[in-house]
Amino acid sequence: MNMLDVLKIREDFPILKRKINGKPLVYFDNAATSQTPLAVIDAIVDYYSNYNSNIHRGVHTLSQEATDAYEMARKKVQEHFNAKHSYEIILTSGTTHSINIVATGFTNLLSKGDEIIVSALEHHSNIVPWQMLCERAGAVLKVIPMNLEGELVMDVYEQLLSDKTKLVFVNHISNALGTINPIEKIIHKAHKVGAAVLIDGAQSCPHIKPDLQALDVDFYVASAHKLCGPTGVGLLYGKEEWLNKLPPYQGGGEMIDQVTFEKTTYAGLPHKFEAGTPNICGGIAFGVALDYMNAIGFDTIAAYEKELLEYGTEKLLEIEGLKIYGTSKNKTSVISFNIGDIHPYDIGSIVDKLGVAVRTGHHCAQPIMDFYKIPGTVRASFSFYNTKEEIDILVEAVKKAKMMLS
Ligand code: ALA
Repeated sequence: MNMLDVLKIREDFPILKRKINGKPLVYFDNAATSQTPLAVIDAIVDYYSNYNSNIHRGVHTLSQEATDAYEMARKKVQEHFNAKHSYEIILTSGTTHSINIVATGFTNLLSKGDEIIVSALEHHSNIVPWQMLCERAGAVLKVIPMNLEGELVMDVYEQLLSDKTKLVFVNHISNALGTINPIEKIIHKAHKVGAAVLIDGAQSCPHIKPDLQALDVDFYVASAHKLCGPTGVGLLYGKEEWLNKLPPYQGGGEMIDQVTFEKTTYAGLPHKFEAGTPNICGGIAFGVALDYMNAIGFDTIAAYEKELLEYGTEKLLEIEGLKIYGTSKNKTSVISFNIGDIHPYDIGSIVDKLGVAVRTGHHCAQPIMDFYKIPGTVRASFSFYNTKEEIDILVEAVKKAKMMLS
């Protein structure tokens, strides 16, 4: 494993030179979206400067170049996540879109009384589509509870599983707390009762490179913008047999085989799920982002981020009255905290004046906030291009905010 040269890496990110309110930007909102390296920015400029064109439909050179680049990106995604076939990778507009393809597709595959399991640690995008599915199909939603550390209570999960369970949906890492969920165990137990499993990798994909075949997961979803790619593009992985069972999500061009007014037949995978002109440039840039991250190496990234997490946790806890939510030993570089009953929004606004970007609020995970009986948290999320010096700036900014607001 290589040591991470953070100062060199920071040179790749033009935005990190920005000043906010006259102070150097300290960007700690990486769980919301990561920043973009020059390699990805250059790929976007290159696409629009040199071969912007629609794909899969033109015999002309530009269209062929764009098609080749787009399909190459799909291949890179397949290789990165270790899917068996590139046609098991559906390029979508992001995690939420991917989840909705599966949730909608299951409507006619469920019967009244079937059960779906989600976890207490989910983002709204992994709750609401399943509630909507339950309403359509007459299915019942069950929830794996969490404990005070912000971990799933696995004994209860095992009790919830039965032959009525048809689907289990769990995130790999909680966006609000950073907990890494035991997905291997979750998948294994679900398969024992014949349920399919969808893993939401939106928060884990920047930190952990999953091996989808080894995990034996049925569906996996993630967004490019969490791992240095652009917004508006992501993936839905599904095992071939599952993707063949699901109906198309949207009708339109490119997802068909034959169209007549009497009957339409659908294209094979992956096109069946890719109606309309996709985010071509975004897809290509997603592939470049994966190249960029892989060149650094996910083991290197994880080791460095662990150091940042430990340092940040220790320094923030030196502030009297600061409480961290999400204290699992198995967590990634996310620190959610509050100080007494100071509103997180007020802390976030003051630290922003000092150049520090954090997210405040319920983080689209209201059930977690309800569990802790709090309106929200301040969330600092670290990436491999952050430094311990930046954490020191955060800590000083939070101290200042506390002084002003107490
Ligand atoms: N889901 C993203 C977050 O946690 C937007 O901030």
